[in-house]
Amino acid sequence: MKNRTITVFAPATVANVACGFDSLGFALNEPGDVIKLTRRDEPGIRITRITGDNGRLPLETDKNTAGVSVKALLEHTGEPCGFDIEVHKQMPLGSGLGSSSASTVGAVFGANLLLDKPLTREQLLPFALLGEKVACGAAHADNVAPSLLGGFQLIRSYDPLDVIEVPHPEGLHCTVLHPHIEVMTEDSRKILRQSVRLKDAIVQWSNFAGLVTGLITGNYPLISRSLNDIIFEPVRSLLIPGYDNVKIAAMDAGALGCSISGSGPSIFALSTSMAGARNVGDAMLASLKKTGIEGDVYVSPINKTGPRIVEEG
Ligand code: HSE
Repeated sequence: MKNRTITVFAPATVANVACGFDSLGFALNEPGDVIKLTRRDEPGIRITRITGDNGRLPLETDKNTAGVSVKALLEHTGEPCGFDIEVHKQMPLGSGLGSSSASTVGAVFGANLLLDKPLTREQLLPFALLGEKVACGAAHADNVAPSLLGGFQLIRSYDPLDVIEVPHPEGLHCTVLHPHIEVMTEDSRKILRQSVRLKDAIVQWSNFAGLVTGLITGNYPLISRSLNDIIFEPVRSLLIPGYDNVKIAAMDAGALGCSISGSGPSIFALSTSMAGARNVGDAMLASLKKTGIEGDVYVSPINKTGPRIVEEG
């Protein structure tokens, strides 16, 4: 059979969404990663090229998030073929935007298409999770699930895996500020306390229930009241210079809420319109710059579709 090639885009994500640590995430329209896959008759997975990573990501299949996931998918399907995979990073590593997840999701999504779709997107999730484990030592799904499925995804349970889409209001827009510093997820998980006081847990799960209810019913004031993280943000924000002032700037500019994106250092805010989200981004960036650190701002509606085909042939 002639080699077939497909190029896909997989979106960045905001995990945790303040009070939903490891349980909730949503997808953005940009940034994201581009993955090119070629199906070959010969067996084996080869990572043939990686761009945009300054040479930091491994080309060895068993150490590369995309390689590990596609290898497991191929073994599962039993197809006697192989893949060449190119990974084009279009977002920074260690940004808190689900960089490793986007590459993994793009790779399994594209490989599944070249295998003529033996699995649904939902069925691809466990394979993408294997890549997350390689990337940061923990198979958390709050980046992978929204990158693969789009929208807001709630991870109700990890064992067994139970992922539920949470509807959201159309007007919801996200601002992400990526300060030009790096925080690796593995490191920012290690600094977390392993136990939580009951009275803090009660506040956190009440906010989480409020946030999910606000999303489903399109109740912006409830979303705003609920976007609080009293357990993880106080610890992780210490790794982000100027964090408190950036958050104040976002709220003063009219954001519904503001918190750390995933494990940081990116900071996200939610707004009720694109124009509002842009204003919030300007205010957040101006505040960050006072610390002497530069940053990039992304403004996006919630991505509803997950990965998409860029080119086929
Ligand atoms: N839920 C994960 C964490 C997301 O906060 O560690 C990592 O991006």
